[in-house]
Amino acid sequence: MIIIKSQPEIDKIAAACRIVAEILESLKSYVKVGMTTADVEAYAEKRIRQRKAIPAFKGYRGYPASACTSVNDQVVHGIPSRLVKLKSGDVISVDLGVILDGFYGDGAITIPVGDVDAGAQRLMQVTEESLYAGIKSAVVGNRVSDISNAVQRHVEAQGFSVVRAFVGHGIGHSLHEDPQVPNFGKPGQGQRLKHGMTLAIEPMVNAGTPDVEILEDGWTAVTADGKLSAHFEHTIAVTKNGPVILTKI
Ligand code: MF3
Ligand code: CO
Repeated sequence: MIIIKSQPEIDKIAAACRIVAEILESLKSYVKVGMTTADVEAYAEKRIRQRKAIPAFKGYRGYPASACTSVNDQVVHGIPSRLVKLKSGDVISVDLGVILDGFYGDGAITIPVGDVDAGAQRLMQVTEESLYAGIKSAVVGNRVSDISNAVQRHVEAQGFSVVRAFVGHGIGHSLHEDPQVPNFGKPGQGQRLKHGMTLAIEPMVNAGTPDVEILEDGWTAVTADGKLSAHFEHTIAVTKNGPVILTKI
């Protein structure tokens, strides 16, 4: 069942999302060569708590941190670690969720570390573009899979692949609500989009094949072929005036 939100509820989700957006934006300049992913976690958690918000991921199904920090061939759910040091040429996907006043916001970006090569830059750019292609399709009257199809078409036209094993989702009163929002699929399927739906759209895009494996930590998803992956995510509201991106500063 998809929960439709009232405007006051959307405003509360937007307030949570703003915190996510501000922290992700400041991480773009904070992340530097030589840092560890534990440093990124410490910064993110401190900033979340400064805003009197709660990290949504910590403790979620036993996840041990406030941020997911996925480096290079790590797709999503990379666990921050003092042993993972960032070097020039790496890309790090940072995924953050917060709870404010009982409402959830969720967003992610992939950040280049030092000098990254043209292939990695193109992967990040195409992934972010595919997110915006999906958002553009999130209009009243379309169906959920119109978002999915727009993401997939953009990615595949550029020669990359979309991950199937993880999907976007409804969000608001909890981190994961209906519907699931895959990043692939035929258009015109699934529920019709309505004013007041709030969705987290989150393409994960691989340079090689779409296949992923989970490491022994039970969380970290890596590409099966060892090639790079990127991840961008926004929480949006579907409105009669078009999609509104809530995780934007
Ligand atoms: N954005 C991801 C999601 O919606 C992050 C979840 S991390 C978890 O699934 F730890 F909370 F699972
Ligand atoms: Co999400």
